[in-house]
Formats: sequence, C-alpha cells, structure tokens
Amino acid sequence: MTCNLLSKVCIFYGKCKFRKAKVHFFVKPEHKDTALNKRYLPIGIVCGVFVLVLVGNFARQVPSNEIPVRLRLENKGGSVVFTHARHIDYVKNMGKDCAACHHDMPATQKEPLPCGACHATEFNTTFSAAHQRTLPKESCTKCHHAEMGTIKYDHDAHANNYASACTDCHHSPDIEDEPQACKNCHGPAADGAAPALRDAVHARCQSCHEDMYDQKIAGCTSCHDFMPGTNAAKQPPCASCHYESDTIPLPARMDAFHGQCMQCHEQAGKGPFGDKSCKRCHTR
Ligand code: HEC
Ligand code: HEC
Ligand code: HEC
Ligand code: HEC
Ligand code: HEC
Ligand code: HEC
Ligand code: HEC
Ligand code: HEC
Ligand code: HEC
Ligand code: HEC
Repeated sequence: MTCNLLSKVCIFYGKCKFRKAKVHFFVKPEHKDTALNKRYLPIGIVCGVFVLVLVGNFARQVPSNEIPVRLRLENKGGSVVFTHARHIDYVKNMGKDCAACHHDMPATQKEPLPCGACHATEFNTTFSAAHQRTLPKESCTKCHHAEMGTIKYDHDAHANNYASACTDCHHSPDIEDEPQACKNCHGPAADGAAPALRDAVHARCQSCHEDMYDQKIAGCTSCHDFMPGTNAAKQPPCASCHYESDTIPLPARMDAFHGQCMQCHEQAGKGPFGDKSCKRCHTR
C-alpha cells in the first residue's frame, strides 16, 4: 500500500540516490526482492513522459495539430515572443474566440493558415504564382471576390438626349472612322498606343458623372453589376477595380501583424500599442 502511494506521488523516486535504502525502508519484508525491479519500468515511463511534456512546452516547434503555448516570431524588427495560450484566455474574456485573430480560418478546419500565407511581405510575381498552389480552394474567393457583370446604362438615351454630339464619347474620324465599340481598340491594359478600356471609357463618363466616381468603390455599381467571384474564372487583378490608389487593398505582412495586435490592445486599453511600445514586443 505505502509502496504504491510512494511510487505514484514521487515520480522521481527511481532517480533518487538514496532510493535503495529508502525503498527498502518502506517496502514490506515479503516484497523486498521484487519491489524495485517491478517499478523501474513504470517509473522510467512516467519520468520520460514528464520530461517530454517539459521539452514540448519550451520548444517553438509543436506538433502541427496542437495549439501553441508560445510562439517566437522572427522578423527584422527583432523577434517577438507571443504568448499564444494566454492570449486565448485574454480573448475569451473579451467574449471572442480563435477567429478574433485567425479571421479567415475555415469553420471546418482546426489548423489555421499562417498569416503570411495571405498577407505576403510583397504581392509580387512570386506570390502570384505560389499562392495558387499553396492556399486551399475555399480561400480563393475571400480575395478574388468579384467579377465584372453587365454594364447598366442607356446608350441611346445618351446618344440622342443627354449628349450634344457622338464625339462627347467617341473619337472624331481621325481615330474612329465611325463610332464603334471602344473595346475594339482599348484592351484590358494600356498598351502604349491607347489607354486601357477601363480608363478610356471612364474618362469620358467622368466628364459628366464626377459624382459617381467621388464615391470611389461604392459608386461603381451605378454603372456596373459585380458578380460574386468564383474559383473557376480567370482572376482579374485587384487593381483593375481597386484603382483609386492602384494598390492591392490587403495589408502586407508587417501591417497585418501590427494592425491586428495593436488594434485590439488599443480597444482593450491593455497590452502594448503606439509609437513608444516597440520594445515591449520586440527583443533583440
Ligand atoms: C490573439 C490572437 C490569437 C488568438 C485568439 C488565437 N491565435 Fe492562434 N495564432 C496567432 C498568431 C499570430 C499565430 C502565428 C501565425 C503565424 O506564424 O503566421 C498563431 C498560430 C497558431 C497555430 C500554429 C500555426 C503554425 O503554423 O505555427 C495554431 C495551431 C493556432 N494558432 C491555433 C489557434 C486556435 C485553435 C485558437 C483558438 C482556440 C487560436 N489559435 C487563437 C494568434 C492567435
Ligand atoms: C486566407 C487568407 C488570410 C489569412 C490566413 C489571414 N488573413 Fe488577414 N485578411 C485577409 C483578407 C482577404 C483581408 C481583407 C478583407 C477583410 O477585412 O476580411 C484581411 C484583412 C486583414 C486585416 C485588416 C482588416 C482588419 O481586420 O483590420 C488585418 C489586420 C489582418 N487581416 C491580419 C491578419 C493576421 C494577423 C492573420 C493571422 C493571424 C491573418 N490576417 C490571416 C486574408 C487572410
Ligand atoms: C455617353 C457616351 C456616348 C455617346 C454620347 C455615344 N456613344 Fe456610342 N458608345 C459608347 C460606348 C461606351 C460604347 C461601347 C459599348 C457600350 O458600352 O455600350 C459605344 C458603342 C457604340 C457603337 C457600337 C455598338 C456595338 O455594340 O458594337 C456604336 C455603333 C455607337 N456607339 C454609335 C454611337 C453614335 C452614332 C452616337 C451619336 C449619335 C453615339 N454612339 C454616342 C458611348 C457613347
Ligand atoms: C479605332 C480605335 C479606337 C476606338 C474604337 C476607340 N479608341 Fe479611344 N483611343 C484610340 C487611340 C489610338 C488612342 C490614343 C491616341 C490619343 O491619345 O489620341 C485613344 C485614346 C483614348 C483616350 C485618351 C485620349 C483622349 O482622347 O482623351 C480616351 C479617353 C479614349 N480613347 C476613349 C475612348 C472611348 C470612350 C471609346 C469608345 C466610345 C474609344 N476611345 C474608342 C483608339 C480608339
Ligand atoms: C455629356 C454628359 C454625359 C456623358 C459624357 C455621360 N453621361 Fe450618363 N447621363 C447624363 C445625363 C444628362 C443623364 C440623365 C440625368 C441624370 O440622371 O443625371 C445621365 C444618366 C446616366 C445614368 C443613369 C443615372 C441614374 O441616375 O441612374 C447612367 C448609368 C449613366 N448616365 C452612365 C453613363 C456612362 C456609362 C457614361 C460613359 C460611357 C456616361 N453616362 C456619360 C450625361 C452624360
Ligand atoms: C459612369 C458609369 C461607370 C462608373 C461609375 C464606373 N464604370 Fe467601369 N466602366 C464603365 C463602362 C461603360 C465601361 C466599358 C465597358 C465596355 O465597353 O465593355 C467600363 C469598364 C470598366 C472596366 C474594364 C472592363 C473590361 O472588361 O476590361 C473595369 C475594370 C471597370 N470599369 C471598373 C470600374 C470600377 C472599379 C468602378 C468604380 C470605381 C467603375 N468601373 C465605375 C462605366 C462605369
Ligand atoms: C489573400 C488573398 C488572396 C487569396 C486567398 C487568393 N489570391 Fe489569387 N491573387 C491575390 C493577389 C494579391 C494577386 C496578385 C495580382 C493582383 O491581383 O494584382 C493574385 C493573383 C492571382 C491570379 C493572377 C495571376 C497572374 O499572374 O495574373 C490568379 C490566377 C489567382 N490569383 C488565383 C488564385 C486562386 C486559384 C486562389 C485560391 C487557391 C487564390 N488566387 C487565392 C490574392 C489572393
Ligand atoms: C471586379 C472588380 C473587383 C476586383 C477584381 C476586386 N475587387 Fe475588391 N471590391 C470590389 C467592389 C465593387 C467592392 C465594394 C463592394 C463589395 O464589398 O463587394 C470591393 C471591396 C473590397 C474590399 C473591402 C474594403 C474596401 O476597400 O472597400 C477588400 C478588402 C477588397 N475588395 C479586396 C480585394 C482584393 C484583395 C482583390 C484582388 C485579389 C480584389 N478586391 C479584387 C470589386 C473588386
Ligand atoms: C483580440 C485581442 C488581442 C490581440 C489580437 C492581441 N492581443 Fe496582446 N493582449 C491582449 C490583451 C487583452 C492583453 C492584456 C492582458 C492583461 O494585461 O490582462 C494583451 C497583452 C499583451 C502583451 C503583454 C502581456 C503578455 O501576455 O505578454 C503582449 C506582449 C502582447 N499582448 C502581444 C501581442 C502580440 C505580439 C499580438 C499579435 C501577434 C497580440 N498581442 C494580439 C489582447 C490582444
Ligand atoms: C504588439 C506587439 C508589437 C508592437 C508594439 C510592435 N511590433 Fe513590430 N512586429 C510585431 C509582430 C508580431 C511582427 C511580425 C512578426 C512576423 O513577421 O512574423 C512585427 C514586425 C515588425 C517589423 C518587421 C518587418 C519585416 O519586414 O520583417 C519591424 C521592422 C517592426 N515590427 C517594427 C516595429 C516598430 C518600429 C514598432 C514601434 C513603433 C513596433 N514594431 C511595435 C509586433 C509588434
């Protein structure tokens, strides 16, 4: 009885320098010969597991199906040790869950994608080529979310009633022998000779409809139907529609991390944020 209790409570017993004497002191006389040998294996196993758990907790590389306790995020600003498990509690206290950070984790999936899989350091040709293979199919339409639909406007009403001449929109005969579809000459991108279809047509419409363009992306639907994006279609570049600044409206890696970490800290009034807080996250 006492022996059982002892081996359960003191898992390091097998390693103790004085174990022999002590074990024999507690062991009933009739068990004296077998007690220790029988316990070498279980004690060894228990110790082994204990050490593994310890090492596992300190290592950054956890098995991919486990929720990390701490993460060391290496970067040019100095590595950041992120208390992942504690943050799960912080966020729970705010009434939120994993999606507060892993905001695009598909509901069916327990393993989130690394932030940088979507928020690349740079959206260059390497990203363009690689992400089509590395990202799961369900994620494509998170970013490629819209396709051009039909144009809604009344051409003939414009030609006959609103405009003073066909040349309010069409070219004069030095370019266009007679009025025809703009896309006969204006392609999807500027080609050196003529501007892109989008920019050419918009320039003409804008001369009377400044108000629609002032609303930026919200004003597009005055003339366009946008359809939900699909995986199957050829993907138009983001900047073909988001062209106010000709940038991709998706935060790059550093901005994604800074944005998410600091926005929440600022809202919660806790945790580091702001210009003077760098060293509370970054260590050298
Ligand atoms: C406060 C924000 C936050 C919360 C809440 C959060 N995570 Fe994370 N998690 C992160 C960040 C940041 C990373 C690092 C991602 C990277 O390296 O790109 C990460 C990494 C992970 C990883 C490791 C992925 C890898 O490749 O290293 C797993 C697994 C994970 N989180 C699961 C979860 C689960 C499950 C929950 C909810 C119980 C959760 N996380 C809640 C921010 C959070
Ligand atoms: C599957 C792709 C994907 C992954 C993975 C992903 N994001 Fe995003 N993220 C997006 C898209 C798309 C947007 C823009 C649309 C939106 O707001 O949802 C965005 C927007 C953001 C924004 C700006 C909008 C806001 O909420 O303020 C931040 C910040 C951000 N992500 C941080 C992160 C961080 C940090 C991670 C990792 C924990 C992460 N993202 C993982 C796709 C992703
Ligand atoms: C408000 C601008 C505007 C005015 C004014 C205008 N057009 Fe057009 N027209 C366009 C645009 C833009 C297209 C390209 C197709 C489209 O978007 O409807 C076009 C296309 C055409 C086409 C080709 C149709 C096709 O489907 O291939 C013809 C023909 C044409 N216009 C004739 C005229 C004539 C003739 C006038 C003057 C009486 C005129 N347009 C006035 C903007 C205009
Ligand atoms: C036959 C070919 C052709 C057709 C059809 C055509 N364009 Fe062009 N467009 C050109 C060329 C070539 C240029 C560049 C030469 C220049 O800058 O004058 C140009 C330039 C432009 C420009 C920039 C210079 C300017 O004139 O302001 C606009 C805007 C434009 N086109 C609008 C349109 C619109 C709108 C339509 C249809 C209603 C149209 N174009 C149809 C050939 C064409
Ligand atoms: C010469 C000036 C002029 C030009 C150039 C012009 N429009 Fe218009 N547009 C008008 C007028 C006038 C109306 C009718 C009054 C109103 O609704 O503002 C109108 C109405 C419209 C409407 C309906 C507005 C509504 O309230 O539903 C649309 C859509 C439209 N135009 C699209 C276009 C497109 C596309 C182009 C370029 C190919 C264009 N317009 C170029 C003057 C113009
Ligand atoms: C005043 C009406 C009007 C407004 C507002 C407008 N567009 Fe257009 N847009 C047109 C017309 C007309 C065309 C030419 C379509 C054609 O000839 O096939 C066009 C062409 C385009 C094209 C090129 C399509 C192709 O097939 O290559 C893109 C991309 C586009 N618009 C995006 C936008 C976006 C994004 C907005 C909002 C920021 C916007 N448009 C606002 C009328 C408008
Ligand atoms: C995190 C956002 C995001 C996700 C998710 C995403 N893409 Fe993209 N994709 C982009 C960006 C950014 C570009 C860069 C080109 C641009 O639009 O300017 C791009 C470009 C492309 C291109 C054009 C490449 C070229 O060279 O013209 C294709 C095709 C494409 N993506 C397919 C996919 C497919 C298939 C998926 C899903 C497996 C996917 N994308 C998921 C953001 C995303
Ligand atoms: C065919 C046109 C089109 C293309 C291509 C397109 N978008 Fe959009 N996007 C829109 C329109 C229209 C809206 C606003 C209406 C809405 O929410 O659907 C929008 C809204 C957004 C928003 C919400 C924030 C904002 O700026 O208002 C994000 C983020 C975004 N797009 C990202 C992307 C990314 C990243 C790509 C490229 C991978 C892309 N879009 C390609 C048309 C487009
Ligand atoms: C959704 C909310 C939320 C997000 C996202 C978030 N945090 Fe926090 N964080 C908190 C809260 C709340 C505290 C304060 C906890 C307390 O003091 O009670 C905190 C505290 C901290 C602290 C100080 C205490 C500690 O646990 O180390 C650091 C450092 C920190 N956060 C780093 C980060 C980093 C790095 C990120 C992004 C990868 C991040 N946080 C994202 C909510 C968030
Ligand atoms: C809340 C924690 C937090 C604070 C505060 C913070 N950062 Fe960061 N920073 C991060 C995280 C997380 C990353 C991204 C780690 C990664 O890429 O995996 C990062 C990345 C960076 C990078 C790396 C960019 C790259 O391309 O590798 C630089 C530089 C940087 N931060 C500078 C700063 C400066 C300067 C400040 C103070 C104004 C600051 N950071 C404040 C968490 C923080």
